[in-house]
Amino acid sequence: MTGATATARAHPNLALVKYWGKRDEQLMLPETGSLSLTLDTFPTTTTVTLDDSLEADVLELDGAEQTGEALRRVVRLLDLVRERTGDHRFAHVRTANTAPTGAGLASSASGFAALATAASATWGMPMDTPSLSRLARRGSGSAARSVVPGVALWHAGEDDATSFAEPVPAPPLAMVIALVSKASKAISSREAMRRTSATSPFHDGWVSSTQQTLEDMVAACRAGDLPRIGELTELSALRMHAMIQGAEPPIRYLAPTSIAVLDRVVALRDEEGIGAWATADAGPNVAVLCAPEDTARVEAALADLAPTTTAHAGPGARLVTEDDEATA
Ligand code: PMV
Repeated sequence: MTGATATARAHPNLALVKYWGKRDEQLMLPETGSLSLTLDTFPTTTTVTLDDSLEADVLELDGAEQTGEALRRVVRLLDLVRERTGDHRFAHVRTANTAPTGAGLASSASGFAALATAASATWGMPMDTPSLSRLARRGSGSAARSVVPGVALWHAGEDDATSFAEPVPAPPLAMVIALVSKASKAISSREAMRRTSATSPFHDGWVSSTQQTLEDMVAACRAGDLPRIGELTELSALRMHAMIQGAEPPIRYLAPTSIAVLDRVVALRDEEGIGAWATADAGPNVAVLCAPEDTARVEAALADLAPTTTAHAGPGARLVTEDDEATA
């Protein structure tokens, strides 16, 4: 017999001030705060259905049943909901991604934001946005930010209760994403974070400088100062990659085409006066931040280097009904 069910949708986010490193792996507390833009592209839609006949949770990703680490991460999040509600039934989780999984386009962020939202509704545990953000954080750190629409500030916090994301007012922003590669990353962000914290001599400098970068970024967002937002975005990304490359053995996510995109963005700024700034997550894809009215010029400038896709500020995680589906 099947029981309660709920469907939620969430979008990926791209960090303008990066999160890299956990100070508590169990609670998923980050070493630093971070700030991101939730996008309006590549949503993940997840349905959670309680099923009395199940003896374990079942996870289907894009129609294929999952085992191993992907399933374990989902079970760990559902265990938190079971603990809190005292309802220990198992669930069938069906999730559909529209971004290539594992390619640095943040499918884990949209995935766990959608899962937290759908699971809390399925178990009849309505939550406010900070609580949903805290729950999503336990699945994947950056998922804490995908619960929030637009620009999201994730507080490092003191403890589980204080580490969540909240919206920050910001000017209109767009991202032109250069799809350098769709391949899954060779080393997961979880593993790479561990190695970086343990071995990179640049790690301490990253932690001590990021607090200031974040404060400056929040001020720039509130002031609507796009050039300053852009400068800080590029600074945070390049510092993160420098720290990661300093791990032992080194980890390098950027590919030759990524570097070519970074150079092209500098040329766009210096030679054509276009406000464009680059960032890259744990993979070779490069996202270019710009004003919405400049996206066509940025797309044209990158066209010979890689296919692009353009995104704007998107909605936070939310429940979807059958009516939404019919009109989608
Ligand atoms: O939440 P995770 O484990 O997927 O880590 C995300 C790390 C970066 O995407 C590289 C940076 C960020 O802040 O999103």
